[in-house]
Amino acid sequence: MSQIKDPADPIESEHAEKPSRRRFLQSAAATVAISAAPLARAQQQPAVAPPLVAAPLLPVHLTINGRPYELQLEARTTLLDALREYAGLTGTKKGCDRGQCGACTVIAGGKRINSCLTLAVMHTGESITTVEGLASNDTLSPIQRAFIEHDAFQCGFCTPGQLCSATALLNEFRAGDASAVTADVRARPPQLSADEIRERMSGNICRCGAYTNIVAAVSAVATNKA
Ligand code: FES
Ligand code: FES
Repeated sequence: MSQIKDPADPIESEHAEKPSRRRFLQSAAATVAISAAPLARAQQQPAVAPPLVAAPLLPVHLTINGRPYELQLEARTTLLDALREYAGLTGTKKGCDRGQCGACTVIAGGKRINSCLTLAVMHTGESITTVEGLASNDTLSPIQRAFIEHDAFQCGFCTPGQLCSATALLNEFRAGDASAVTADVRARPPQLSADEIRERMSGNICRCGAYTNIVAAVSAVATNKA
């Protein structure tokens, strides 16, 4: 037997609302499910990457340690990567790759440079000397011998850069170049003091801390004691 509901009765009123609340929640959930379906389908689709466009290669001619190299390189290739990855000369080390450690030092056109900070295409036609080119035939250079005699390395990671830097340093000093600690920059530095060596080698970091022996090795060559 059906009963007449009294809307003024709070119990009746609460029971009367229940079906409509349920329907509302059911329809809201259905709406969310329907709108989320295309998004879920899109997320299941594999992402389509834009097609890769290869950068053009440029011819780079380098003379490395007296030997000609014809390389095809992207313009963005650093000299360090050209030496290590394309010329196969892995003696030059990549430490920081941002000009802070000196491990990548080579001699380009007679000047020591951080090869990680320069593009290979900028050196086309130049002569580059790396650590592999310091010895002649099987004879170590004076600075290489001095490094061994003075125990100027431990792990050796910084050593190729230290050797190239020291080689160029000795040439710069013999040419009369002043440094930041030369007392009178108008005059030829009288001698390669420990301060001069430390200043001129300050771009080459050694994490093993072999500095004292590196200075001794460079000093020995400068004074013909090596
Ligand atoms: S790798 Fe070039 S300066 Fe450190
Ligand atoms: S010898 Fe190890 S970093 Fe210099």
